[in-house]
Amino acid sequence: MLDIYKRAEKVIIFDGRALAKTGEVNLQKSLAKGKREFPRLVSILSADNKESLLYTSLKQKAAERVGIPFEAISLPSNLRTLNYIGNLISRLNSDSSVGGLLIQLPFFGNKDDLKVTSLIAPTKDVDCLTPFNLGLIQLGQPNILPATVRAILEILTYANPNSETLQLDKPARRLGEPARRLGGFDQYRSHLAWLAGQNIVVLGSRGMVGAPLTTILSHLGATVTGCHRQTQNLKEICLKADVIISCAGSPGLVKKDMVKSGVIVIDVGTSVVNGRVVGDIDQSVAEVASFITPVPGGVGPLTVVSLLKNFLNLVF
Ligand SMILES: NC(=O)c1ccc[n+]([C@@H]2O[C@H](COP(=O)([O-])OP(=O)(O)OC[C@H]3O[C@@H](n4cnc5c(N)ncnc54)[C@H](OP(=O)(O)O)[C@@H]3O)[C@@H](O)[C@H]2O)c1
Repeated sequence: MLDIYKRAEKVIIFDGRALAKTGEVNLQKSLAKGKREFPRLVSILSADNKESLLYTSLKQKAAERVGIPFEAISLPSNLRTLNYIGNLISRLNSDSSVGGLLIQLPFFGNKDDLKVTSLIAPTKDVDCLTPFNLGLIQLGQPNILPATVRAILEILTYANPNSETLQLDKPARRLGEPARRLGGFDQYRSHLAWLAGQNIVVLGSRGMVGAPLTTILSHLGATVTGCHRQTQNLKEICLKADVIISCAGSPGLVKKDMVKSGVIVIDVGTSVVNGRVVGDIDQSVAEVASFITPVPGGVGPLTVVSLLKNFLNLVF
């Protein structure tokens, strides 16, 4: 059995690196079986953003380990104009050797980011950035999920208190199978049936990650409370939660006295404090939680693999 659980005294600490590694190996095997030329995965990013450079290089290395051709187009400030990027995206949209396209955000870091992501062809929208694909999530009929949301859903399948032995780390679809709707979602649905009726708090519910996540969890039958900076009584709200998912990027936002015993906690937040990468959840929460994801080593590594799974959903 895949060892993704590190058991501390009571709490399960989820090992995202272990699951990501297995996910990569499985992707590698299924790609090798396919024996065909792959289209490439293209990421456009701002050359001046250190985090974008780092995240893109992690994605590139994972893609290359698995056998997916990856191209990073890193644009200096003089080329980051709507006109230039519009022409570039239009060229990539119609290039059959490109199977998936993403913009590493923030790109401009303002409202123009949406103008850019809107230009991606929905059929190549590997990280679900386009209003079209985000709209399908709103309707409960996603074609594709944001990679981070897919990673969170996958982790939730392992957090099911009634089952610890799920093996979902297979590619979403085997090569040669006919294209299927709801790429990356259907396979999780039955394993997420346990979420129906659960009280879930999403911290950062208006954000890039939190907004689609909140909608999807609701479509899965959970009673979701979305929180943001204007939310009052955060402690009272969190104390009622069976599951807390924090995607706020606010270190130490959730503390031990804000959660009930046995809570399931997924920490998506990633911030750098004194040179260390930290999440939103204070370490003390592990003393009362039943399941928790660490930062680093939880959601992050799975997000990268989820992006590659999305890519395969698009091209097969
Ligand atoms: N591990 C991964 O793979 C991964 C992937 C993507 C993102 N992330 C991390 O996840 C976090 C969220 O990313 P994002 O792109 O969704 O960010 P985002 O679009 O900026 O959204 C952040 C959300 O958090 C809310 N928020 C911030 N501080 C808060 C506080 N103190 N109390 C309550 N709500 C608060 C914001 O509220 P308002 O709406 O009121 O401003 C907003 O809704 C970041 O730390 C990011 O680095 C991790």
